Amino acid sequence: MTYQLPEGFLWGGATADFQFEGGFGEGGRGILSHDYETDGSQENPRHHTMKRSDGSIINPRSSFFYADPVPGDATPIFLENEYYPSHKAVDFYHHYKEDIKLMAGMGFNVFRFSICWSRIFPTGEELEPNEAGLQFYDDVINEMAKYGMEPLITICHDEMPMQLALKYDGWSSRKVIDAYVKYCKVLFERYGDRCRYWLTFNEINAVRGFGPMGTRQSGGQERYQADHHMFVASAMAVKLGHELMPNSQFGAMYAMSELYARTCKPEDVFHRMQERRENWYFIDIMGRGYYPSYSKSVWRNRGVSGIAFEPGDEEILREGQLDFISFSYYRSNTTQAGDDWFNVGGSPNPYLEETPWGWAVDPLGLRHVMNDIFDRIQKPIFIVENGMGAVDVADENDYVEDDYRIDYLKKHLQAMADAINLDGVECLGYTMWAPIDLVSLSTGEMKKRYGFIYVDMDDKGNGSLKRTPKKSYEWMKEIISSNGAKLAE
Ligand code: BG6
Repeated sequence: MTYQLPEGFLWGGATADFQFEGGFGEGGRGILSHDYETDGSQENPRHHTMKRSDGSIINPRSSFFYADPVPGDATPIFLENEYYPSHKAVDFYHHYKEDIKLMAGMGFNVFRFSICWSRIFPTGEELEPNEAGLQFYDDVINEMAKYGMEPLITICHDEMPMQLALKYDGWSSRKVIDAYVKYCKVLFERYGDRCRYWLTFNEINAVRGFGPMGTRQSGGQERYQADHHMFVASAMAVKLGHELMPNSQFGAMYAMSELYARTCKPEDVFHRMQERRENWYFIDIMGRGYYPSYSKSVWRNRGVSGIAFEPGDEEILREGQLDFISFSYYRSNTTQAGDDWFNVGGSPNPYLEETPWGWAVDPLGLRHVMNDIFDRIQKPIFIVENGMGAVDVADENDYVEDDYRIDYLKKHLQAMADAINLDGVECLGYTMWAPIDLVSLSTGEMKKRYGFIYVDMDDKGNGSLKRTPKKSYEWMKEIISSNGAKLAE
């Protein structure tokens, strides 16, 4: 059995600006939709802090599945007694040289990061971009180039300038398509000579309400119409990107945890197919360039009467198809007739162990998902997030012996190599989430750590921010230098 991967395979890590970068208020950065999200934990979900027109303060939940819609009369507010993790995150803004050097030390030849939209267009609607923001990413990309590391840029990682979200209810409005395409054009013209790989959106299929997508409701008609606007925006960006950067390759990123029927009862299996279509819907439209015929059944199940198209939408979807399909994979879930997977966020699987955050560990599920996507779309795939959130206990030198992470990654990388070598799946690369500890998206805490590199910082932002490689750092270095072969040991 060999785990050796094809030559040119891309090995790296992935991050998101508001979880990693910090630099709030620096270099002309505008307020981002995530900036009003408090810290939290599994037990105490994070919140958006909001003020109603009568002056009262409310805290709509902003947990992973965005349970509470945001009332129309509420506007965001910063409260002195709250901690907002995006403001400092783990301060890549001031540590980028050190962080890139550490990642290069593992042999990364690609690094996935997202650009903070409000660093480039602080409100989303300026006529000219913010030069200091553009310069920051120039510096990052040039620093990476010193080590032969290619950028994989996420143009929009679940975010937008807050002003766009408030003014237009985010992607509910087609005005945001214009703002997004203008932003993309600036990025392509500025970085296109050094960046081949682009992702138009992160986890576009995940139901996230106010903030990420900007809409006040996280379901129903508004959500599916907003999704359509994102499809059109993505396709316009892909078309423009191909014109301006002939060698560019575009993906969008999908949350693709595996989903099983809980039993072999036909109703459960049928239900599983319907739930899965909620994901295929996104991949099919963007990967094949048209709405599949089952869209009507997806809409019907969600109480949506249909989507408003404008002239030219069908054409642009066809012209702006993705070049590759990228996805995140962390775990698997189960479902049965009567469940609403979006609101459950995972159900126990008696055959699998779970992380402390209840995420089922399922390497074979990764191989299954890789095969499913490749069989269906017949375009290269790219695993752009996979990793294990764990409670790391550091010794007095900040060293962490994270054998559990090595075990998790080893099994998932073996499954990936099997999909490539045994099943014939074409896969461009693997970027592990997240090479350096950062703030958890779903819980807003530091306690849930993913990194090969430990960051001395707690849930409230206290700590020296010192970076220290963990045991998994040396292990991953060996795997990369052997291009996978050492996964056999
Ligand atoms: C993906 C997101 O959903 O999963 C990342 O793209 C996120 O932003 C990652 O951090 C892991 O989730 P969490 O909640 O453990 O940070």
